[in-house]
Amino acid sequence: MSETRRYDQPRLVTIAILALMLAACSKQASPPDQATVSASASSVAASSVSAAAPMTLPISINAVMVGAIDHASDPLFGVGNAMFGSGKLPKTDADWREVQFHAYQMVILGKIIQMPGTGPRDVEWTSKPEWKAFADSLSTVGMDILALTEKKDAVGFQAAGNKLIDVCEGCHLAFKPDIPTMKLRHQTYQGESTK
Ligand code: HEC
Repeated sequence: MSETRRYDQPRLVTIAILALMLAACSKQASPPDQATVSASASSVAASSVSAAAPMTLPISINAVMVGAIDHASDPLFGVGNAMFGSGKLPKTDADWREVQFHAYQMVILGKIIQMPGTGPRDVEWTSKPEWKAFADSLSTVGMDILALTEKKDAVGFQAAGNKLIDVCEGCHLAFKPDIPTMKLRHQTYQGESTK
């Protein structure tokens, strides 16, 4: 009896350890397995993504300027300018919503342009602290404008518009070449209100 116990106890301990190891093994094994499955499921995209690769834009910063930042800023300047006869004063809730969406865009775009895109000087520009500061200011002024849209405070847009143009011009003075790298310049478009 006592002999059996002496024999059984280590055996039980061994079995328990084995069970624990197995449990540990299967726990460790499952996340990589899942990762492998999802990586192969989303095939090309997943396999080309490296954890260390910094995020980049699929277009140039020049294109972001013309296609997004310039486009989003125009209706924002328009509210402040409306009091001087040009631009567009929002009247209905829908008008204000539209202005608010452009404020959201400005907030986001200030962060977007901290990533380099396909332009020849994008990496150089975005690596500079001064660039990051100007870009962050775009988001900060965008947040101020967002608050104005929530209060429907059209008068406040005059000062906010001045702050916004200071950010655009400050960064342009510091960075913008005379001829844009991708030769993309401000374009007038349907619905443009201030020019
Ligand atoms: C962080 C810096 C920065 C900020 C902020 C910035 N820009 Fe730019 N912008 C540039 C640079 C640099 C270029 C030239 C890009 C190139 O040559 O590849 C440019 C180009 C442009 C262009 C195309 C070239 C032209 O002269 O027509 C427009 C339009 C433009 N920006 C509008 C704006 C407006 C409007 C704002 C503010 C709401 C603004 N940008 C804020 C850096 C900035």
